[in-house]
Amino acid sequence: MLNLITNNSFYAILKSMENKIKIGLIGLGTVGSGVYKTLQNFDNIEIAKIAVRNKNKKRNIEGLDENIITDDPYEVVNDPEIQIVTELVGGLEPALDLIKTAIKNGKHIVTANKELLAKHGEELFKFAEANNKVVLYEAAIAGGIPLIMPIKTILAGNKINKIKAILNGTTNYILTKMDTQGASYDEVLKEAQELGYAEADPTGDVEGFDAAYKVTTLATIAFGKRIKIDNVYREGITKIRAEDMQAANEMGYKIKLIASAEMDEDGKADVRVHPMLVPLTQTLAHINYVTNAVSLSGHPVGDVTLSGPGAGEFPTASSVVGDILAIASELGKTDYLLPMMRCHHSENAQMIDISETKNKYYLSITAQNSMGVIGRIGKACEDNNISLASIVQKEVSSGKAAIITVITELCREKDMQKVINILNNDNAITQVNSLIRVQI
Ligand SMILES: NC(=O)c1ccc[n+]([C@@H]2O[C@H](COP(=O)([O-])OP(=O)(O)OC[C@H]3O[C@@H](n4cnc5c(N)ncnc54)[C@H](OP(=O)(O)O)[C@@H]3O)[C@@H](O)[C@H]2O)c1
Repeated sequence: MLNLITNNSFYAILKSMENKIKIGLIGLGTVGSGVYKTLQNFDNIEIAKIAVRNKNKKRNIEGLDENIITDDPYEVVNDPEIQIVTELVGGLEPALDLIKTAIKNGKHIVTANKELLAKHGEELFKFAEANNKVVLYEAAIAGGIPLIMPIKTILAGNKINKIKAILNGTTNYILTKMDTQGASYDEVLKEAQELGYAEADPTGDVEGFDAAYKVTTLATIAFGKRIKIDNVYREGITKIRAEDMQAANEMGYKIKLIASAEMDEDGKADVRVHPMLVPLTQTLAHINYVTNAVSLSGHPVGDVTLSGPGAGEFPTASSVVGDILAIASELGKTDYLLPMMRCHHSENAQMIDISETKNKYYLSITAQNSMGVIGRIGKACEDNNISLASIVQKEVSSGKAAIITVITELCREKDMQKVINILNNDNAITQVNSLIRVQI
């Protein structure tokens, strides 16, 4: 992989530069290490300073010069020789203050910090523009998948109106394992934690926060209007059961955590993250384990799907290094670098509340195995303008209970919630086990 990078045209441009470009790294963890190792192949890029939290930590990096390591990240952002600061710490503070200080000090920024972009993107990009500096973040949305630069450059002539994506490797790994092993969420989570695919506190991934941060920024650049993270509907995967996986398989679907963003003809945006039954006819149903994928629809391009590694030391470093090289190749050649990669929108998107959206649903219900139960479910739906695409009843072993699986036609979320309320108060219904939206 490293040889390929050194053979590309960026390298030729960089080779021709007279002076070394000095960069500063803040963070030398998973991504920072990959960036450090990859940059060793570029003679004209010098890593002048690296900030970490703990200087004494043992690091498995060959040839690492301990003399350039500091535990004060302000030494990096205040160093007058450094031209590009790469923030690979994560979280909101001190990352935000470090980036703003670096910009104030005349540096361009590369970051992989999705949370910061989702929560403070507007402030950050305005500040960078006011100081005529660029902030690039290819690694923040889908790790190694080239996405931001393609959307901002070669797809710039498109009106993108739909994105469906798998943006979190941990949850996709868990769902794939649940599917292939028939195992429960808890069992697979434990295994994923032991293998290092899930963190000790997995909340950020399994509750959909990570995917929500990513789709917020992705939808903002795709639609050219600002999406606020607070308006992004979010549901995680913790309630998905092995039985739902099996039912989905029997009906020709896979369950995936889908980050989606749609812009309707009136310019209203619907941005959300939640589990979905994805038909086997669609590409996203076949994206397994830690792989990520983004399907987008635009005019004139049509439908495009990009897939690849959404995280990891080297895939993520690939995007970070690409951003560093994009900036480095223009330094000293123009006063206004990378105009297409800058933030050009200021308008907030008008958002559609989830209750007003239309969806298809999968419902799993446990009920008494008695006459008329199916009819009551059908009536509750009919009374609330919901048509059913299928309803299947299976007797469970005792013979006293039945599992009823329902797939609806497109209907309003608001109406579906009314039906759930009716079913929860029906004496013949033991419980509504699951309600999962179905991708069409
Ligand atoms: N991991 C991935 O695959 C991946 C993929 C896409 C995007 N990202 C994003 O990339 C960023 C970095 O992730 P990561 O996985 O590399 O994290 P990580 O392994 O936890 O590394 C974080 C690094 O930041 C350093 N650090 C923490 N606080 C600091 C401070 N106050 N001053 C200076 N250094 C500090 C740590 O120092 P010590 O080493 O001394 O602890 C460590 O080197 C995050 O924004 C993350 O969301 C990660």
